[in-house]
Amino acid sequence: MPVAEEVESVYPVALQRRVESYLAALPLDAVAGTERLVEAMRYSLLAPGKRVRPVLALATARALGRDPEWVLPLAAAIEMIHTYSLIHDDLPAMDDDDLRRGRPTCHVAFGEDVAILAGDGLFAEAVAHVVSHQQGPAERVLAAVRELIAATGVRGMVGGQFLDVSAGAHEVDAERLQRIHRLKTGALIAASVGSVLTLAGSDGPATIPYRAFAAELGLLFQIVDDILDVSGNEQELGKRRGSDERLHKVTYVSVFGLDRARELAREAHTRARAHLAQADGDTSDLARVADYVLARQR
Ligand code: IPE
Ligand code: IPE
Ligand code: MG
Ligand code: MG
Ligand code: MG
Repeated sequence: MPVAEEVESVYPVALQRRVESYLAALPLDAVAGTERLVEAMRYSLLAPGKRVRPVLALATARALGRDPEWVLPLAAAIEMIHTYSLIHDDLPAMDDDDLRRGRPTCHVAFGEDVAILAGDGLFAEAVAHVVSHQQGPAERVLAAVRELIAATGVRGMVGGQFLDVSAGAHEVDAERLQRIHRLKTGALIAASVGSVLTLAGSDGPATIPYRAFAAELGLLFQIVDDILDVSGNEQELGKRRGSDERLHKVTYVSVFGLDRARELAREAHTRARAHLAQADGDTSDLARVADYVLARQR
């Protein structure tokens, strides 16, 4: 079997499909005159992404013995926030990329002004959707949303993106690089698991292995992203290869070289799996996501 198919067979595709159909049916209604804004939001959101974060949320619900369907509103909000981060990441003032999810980037297709607003709109609609539609005790829904939004903010994705765009190559050592990766990418991935634990009212020692797993998976995800930026295939990736080098970004490959970066990815994967092995419940889908994240070619 070709490697790509083996990798796909690892991924919990049924959960991915469920997320896809939920996203496609989201009530993102335009008010008179805003049709093109909503078109831009849908253009980026419904483009073929891997849906790793919402799939993690559904897989976490399953591991806790809950119906994955229950967390679809929260999972959709996570994917909307992730998509907003991609639209803004690609802007000329940020990474200046012209290809994303196999399509021209949002600003190439709709203009920079509309792309900025499409990102803003996805963020706001994500919060509105989850607080309106997520079932559960109000205080737990609030706590889950708080965790998700905190992971998006200064102590998470946006803070990490700031450190990424403002990092001069000289000041970044391995420790600082890991911190950037844990913030810009790791935090939202960690929250994809953590916010479901919070929503389910799971806390205490039993949740420690889940949270430790998700933190390692977040780091692993961005190490592999750095590797694919050098060694990936543009067609498969759906985005340009070599973006990091063009922008003189400090990455796991620029700091450690390709071979050592691959080793560090394997080590992060091993740590993630070891944490998961300590967790109660049916964690098989979470394990499959971790294996996919290490082996993925896109
Ligand atoms: C890309 O995320 C941006 C990073 C945080 C590394 P993904 O690799 O999950 O992109 P999609 O959602 O599948 O397009
Ligand atoms: C971006 O990292 C992480 C985000 C928070 C969007 P990258 O800039 O490396 O992501 P890609 O490679 O463009 O997807
Ligand atoms: Mg970037
Ligand atoms: Mg980028
Ligand atoms: Mg990248």
